[in-house]
Amino acid sequence: MGKLKALDENLNLTDKRIILRVDLNVPMQDGKITDKSRINKVIPIIKEFTNKKAKVILISHLGRPKGKIDEKLSLKLIVPILENLLNSKVYFSSESYGPTAIEKSNEIKPGEVLLLENIRFNKEEESNDRNFAKELSKAGDIYVNEAFSCSHRAHSSVSEITNHINSFAGIQLIKEINAIKMLTENPKKPVSCIIGGSKISTKVNVLTNLIKKMDNIIIVGAMANNFIKYEKYEIGKSVYEKNTENLLESIVKESKKYNCRIIIPCDVIVSKNYKSKGKLKNLHEIDSSDLILDIGIKTVKTICEIIDNSKTVLWNGPAGYFEIDEFSQGSNKIAKKIAENTKNKSLTSIAGGGDTVAAINKFKCFDKFTYISTAGGAFLELLEGKILPGIKALEKNE
Ligand code: 3PG
Ligand code: MG
Repeated sequence: MGKLKALDENLNLTDKRIILRVDLNVPMQDGKITDKSRINKVIPIIKEFTNKKAKVILISHLGRPKGKIDEKLSLKLIVPILENLLNSKVYFSSESYGPTAIEKSNEIKPGEVLLLENIRFNKEEESNDRNFAKELSKAGDIYVNEAFSCSHRAHSSVSEITNHINSFAGIQLIKEINAIKMLTENPKKPVSCIIGGSKISTKVNVLTNLIKKMDNIIIVGAMANNFIKYEKYEIGKSVYEKNTENLLESIVKESKKYNCRIIIPCDVIVSKNYKSKGKLKNLHEIDSSDLILDIGIKTVKTICEIIDNSKTVLWNGPAGYFEIDEFSQGSNKIAKKIAENTKNKSLTSIAGGGDTVAAINKFKCFDKFTYISTAGGAFLELLEGKILPGIKALEKNE
């Protein structure tokens, strides 16, 4: 990766219109926001620019409206939240580009904020359209990308726009990339990772890349069910992905080649459904009507010991169905152990992914990790060693 173009701290930004690409794509359920981490995260960045008397023009997407207007995904929803957190008025433009948006970007005063409507209401956003990106760029004098979590998308407001306006990598984006890259490039050893989630096929490339760099890979969550089944244990009605035997075989083979230990659960919490009480079982005790919903106490103990023996830990993917308290203990203990060792034993701890961040928030450990990335796909793709289009677009041409 080349060096990223960063904004000179001493640059006079007074009266400058800054197009700030942020990620306000927050998780929602029944029209309500269920986790505000991504909004909280951009507040200090916006404040830094408004303090410097710049005019801040925010661009973001919300959900996947696929180029059509969908009122339920309007960014208008976010305005009062931003106003509350910034403690100042936030202007809104229902046009995300074109004459009205440009006019409004000129009208706001230095130190004020304008939020443009969901950029994905326009189909040209996802097609990385040249003319659209050019129009979009006219709402600002400079462009700053602070949306690392969107930078794996070759979309107009992330990639093509940088060809039409003086563009920079934001401070937080650079910090986020450095934190993630450290994991695979120069971590303090031993380095261990805890990987959960449900679909092994979406994480197979990450696993294959991490096997070469990690001392331990701990598999938890629904992904572990595949491994438990592969070891010929009953997994009952538990979630698992079909036809993954070959993937698992190659992961196991690679891990031997690179001397990376793979740890899977040795006991689990099962239930007959999500609403019933959980029961602790060893793997050979699981029966055909069981649903695996969390890791068991022996597994938690093993994971805590590995964390104790590690200098760097990466966590992506909860250990169980943490949204329900009955099945949240595995994730809770992992979060607390990592938080404790980060504080007392100078462990370097990095976590990422939407569900993981939600779990860490639930257990009140958000500010107790060395770094938490609110990115999902981009976090994994960077760990895979891929080149992200939004990052490539910010590289210096030297
Ligand atoms: C994300 O949540 O992963 C980012 O906001 C990008 O959104 P997308 O996955 O819909 O492209
Ligand atoms: Mg995504």
